[in-house]
Amino acid sequence: MAYQDIEKVLVSEEDLKEINKRLGAQITKDFADKNLLVVGILKGSIYFMTDLTRYINLPCKIDFLAVSSYGSGTTSSGAVRIIKDIDINLEGYDILIVEDILDSGRTLNYVCNMLKSRNPASISIATLLDKPERRVVDLTPDYVGCDVPDEFVVGYGLDYDQRYRNLPYIGQLKREIYE
Ligand code: IMP
Ligand code: MG
Repeated sequence: MAYQDIEKVLVSEEDLKEINKRLGAQITKDFADKNLLVVGILKGSIYFMTDLTRYINLPCKIDFLAVSSYGSGTTSSGAVRIIKDIDINLEGYDILIVEDILDSGRTLNYVCNMLKSRNPASISIATLLDKPERRVVDLTPDYVGCDVPDEFVVGYGLDYDQRYRNLPYIGQLKREIYE
């Protein structure tokens, strides 16, 4: 049973709702005169993407990018594979990348460089969770839900070996599950 594998809840359902409201309001202000294209990184961002965008009170387009950087381990390999690309020409769009968690930063760094080469008007990053002390590349997100400690976390889209994504909160996974 999934819940027995959780050490403790780090971000509750109520916290998540507050985060989505706060970030949605800020993004609505910042992109008022822009040509917004929200790009969710599959699969981890699915719940954050669907909840956050309902608080963005602007006309916008939505697309997805599926990348793989982890396999079944708990540390980033640095090798990023594009599994599903964005369907449209990015020229002239103000892109907001929506990510579940920023860890080493390697995945998003790769994604940002790839998208930059397609001449969008701008690229911004919204991440639900941040582990700033783990960063190995120079990357600062524009919108952060909250920082989390250097522990492996799951739920609300985040997985361990493709499991736990459907937990309605962010929980710290018991070390015995992955060690
Ligand atoms: P980075 O390339 O090291 O920044 O890793 C980012 C990706 O690794 C995220 O998009 C997640 O898919 C995954 N990841 C990093 N930390 C965690 C975690 O604590 N739980 C679940 N997935 C994680
Ligand atoms: Mg991810």
